[in-house]
Amino acid sequence: MGRRVLVTGGAGYIGSHTLVALQEAGFEVVVIDSLCNSSEIALQRVQMITGTSVRFYHGDIRDRALLEQIFTENSIHAVIHFAGLKAVGESSQKPIDYYQSNVTGSLVLLEAIQAYGVKQLVFSSSATVYGSEAPVPYVETLQTGSTSNPYGTSKWMVEQVLKDAALANPELSVALLRYFNPVGAHPSGLIGEDPQGIPNNLLPYIAQVAVGKRKELSVFGDDYPTPDGTCLRDYLHVMDLAEGHVCALEWLEGKTGTIAFNLGTGKGTSVLDIVRAFEQASGVSIPYRVAPRRAGDLPAFWADASKAKQDLGWVARLGLDQMMVDTWHWQTNNPHGYGIATNDR
Ligand code: NAD
Ligand code: UFG
Repeated sequence: MGRRVLVTGGAGYIGSHTLVALQEAGFEVVVIDSLCNSSEIALQRVQMITGTSVRFYHGDIRDRALLEQIFTENSIHAVIHFAGLKAVGESSQKPIDYYQSNVTGSLVLLEAIQAYGVKQLVFSSSATVYGSEAPVPYVETLQTGSTSNPYGTSKWMVEQVLKDAALANPELSVALLRYFNPVGAHPSGLIGEDPQGIPNNLLPYIAQVAVGKRKELSVFGDDYPTPDGTCLRDYLHVMDLAEGHVCALEWLEGKTGTIAFNLGTGKGTSVLDIVRAFEQASGVSIPYRVAPRRAGDLPAFWADASKAKQDLGWVARLGLDQMMVDTWHWQTNNPHGYGIATNDR
């Protein structure tokens, strides 16, 4: 029997792709998800891809009784913690919801992890913890903090909580995975990113323009101090990111303490480069207009991903072209995501 992993938020974008990677690596998976930003169909699709079942508990990670039930009914070896709210803009309007879900949720989960003697935890952190003053490329040894929105602050706070928890409990080992910009989809086109309403992120927006759901892309600012004036980000394929979780789990065996890893490609790509790469991969032209800068956007950041390579043996293998091809494949196969067409979607 494979080692059993509890995946919180496993029906979500990164979680569902990670389930595939975990099952293909021989892990058994148990999922808890409230479905507040996802669909159970994603889990059915994962099972179609892997031919292996996913045990699903529908509920909130703040529900202590449900966590107790999960840990009692399953012998959990490790936890991968994706569950949380992630819209940067919304977090400034609803800070309490964000701290509740992301910070309180992590605390309740951590209590259960300790109570049931689970020794390994992988946490979904973000490049955003480096804050607005950090020099690029971001390296793990940089100071974190100076976050500029409640979402980023919630990620930073949970990192601190986990560091202290691992210090106090030498049995516990924690990997803080700081993701850069995950894009793309599983090559089957069966699972992918399914944003609710108007997408905040670049790739889902472009994909919806490409299928005619949105008229044009707004490029937020072309007067940044970058080669073409648009922002640079480190886009990585979600399947590479998923593999990073498998590598982190393997690495945590027998370790103690907390360690942070950047998961990115190490390359910065501009908004206009992404538009061109998408057009090339899809053969569809993307109408765009230059709009004012979006509040809170940093001009440019990308990862120094050498620590993940050295310690985990992980590198991002899939290039920009594959990221675009797989985004397009998912979008054309599922123009309304997992749901049905409504005016808003
Ligand atoms: P997602 O919204 O697709 O997935 C999150 C999942 O968690 C959803 O299925 C949602 O229903 C579930 N969830 C939310 N709150 C919950 C709660 N209280 N209890 C139970 N389930 C809950 O997001 P994603 O893009 O897959 O992101 C996964 C994680 O990675 C998040 O923690 C996010 O902050 C982090 N992250 C994402 C990005 C990105 O660009 N997508 C970048 C850095 C970090
Ligand atoms: N952009 C546009 N038009 C759009 C959407 C985005 O021009 O319609 C631009 C943004 O201005 C930015 C770039 O595309 O320059 C990428 O924007 P995203 O919203 O896709 O991604 P961000 O880098 O802003 O943020 C993402 C996640 C955060 C996470 C951060 C770092 O959404 O949760 O990466 O990991 F914190």
